[in-house]
Amino acid sequence: MKIGVSGASGHLGRATVAEFVQRSGGHEVVGISRTPETITAPAQQRFGDYNQPESLAEAYAGLDRLLIIPSLDAGKRGAQNVAAIDAAVKAGVKHIVFMSAAGARQAEGPVLGTPYWWGEQRLIATAPAWTILRMNFYAESFAQQAQMSLAQGVLAGLAENRVAFVARGDVAAAAAGILIGDGHAGATYNATGPERLSGGERAALVAEIAGRPLAFLVITEEQLRAGLTQASLPEQVVNTVISIQTSFAEGAFDILTGDVERLGGWPPKPLRDVLAATLKSPSA
Ligand SMILES: NC(=O)c1ccc[n+]([C@@H]2O[C@H](COP(=O)([O-])OP(=O)(O)OC[C@H]3O[C@@H](n4cnc5c(N)ncnc54)[C@H](OP(=O)(O)O)[C@@H]3O)[C@@H](O)[C@H]2O)c1
Repeated sequence: MKIGVSGASGHLGRATVAEFVQRSGGHEVVGISRTPETITAPAQQRFGDYNQPESLAEAYAGLDRLLIIPSLDAGKRGAQNVAAIDAAVKAGVKHIVFMSAAGARQAEGPVLGTPYWWGEQRLIATAPAWTILRMNFYAESFAQQAQMSLAQGVLAGLAENRVAFVARGDVAAAAAGILIGDGHAGATYNATGPERLSGGERAALVAEIAGRPLAFLVITEEQLRAGLTQASLPEQVVNTVISIQTSFAEGAFDILTGDVERLGGWPPKPLRDVLAATLKSPSA
């Protein structure tokens, strides 16, 4: 089979191609992005821009299966997802796998999961065969947040909540398992870590690993916005952080499954391991 990965030059795309190559079984892999020259062999390189649907016709031509990884462009992501799925269907891709997010849902306004929901709906309505993989919140993204929070000694949230943080490499392994495996048509999977950690639990874990105090504090949206604005963060970043924290508070990432192990072939990495690789204790 000829299998495409759209978004192959990014963090998740590179990891997925690497996992694919480990278990390819003779299948060909085609990497697609706006910077195909950054996609490494043995993946074939093709140019495709979600904002120029005509470029995707050529990019997706002749593929048996395709993984669509959305971009980080929160403003355009919904329209891009739909354009990419339409282009893949038109190009005759037989099985389309869409990388979605936990908490994808229909909602008004700038809600984190809505652009993924649009993609899922279009996929289900139009693809000849499809699979959805909803990723939980990246453990690596939380580790970055934790590093910033340590400076203030406070990890803030809009409510006490639980999140099943997943390592990016585990999402990639699950995606590669779907792309190569059989029996996944019509399935919606959730790539999650091995445990659902509350705000207090994750703050305690960070404190233990970093060897510095960190308390979990529930604040209001107004307080969070004021703090982020005071830190001179651009408005789009402020809105993204608030959207993430709102999704946390609503329980969007409070889901635990065995899908990583089932699809990827190994148990998901605990948050502790990702934090240990990222945070340095003063005595280290
Ligand atoms: N669950 C979480 O915690 C979490 C955290 C971060 C991100 N995410 C999601 O995970 C996905 C991938 O994340 P990542 O870390 O791998 O992001 P990334 O490193 O920025 O990769 C994004 C990929 O999309 C491609 N891309 C961007 N704009 C494009 C366009 N207009 N047309 C075609 N390709 C385009 C990029 O390639 P070029 O720039 O070369 O075109 C790149 O290959 C995104 O859906 C993102 O929203 C989830």
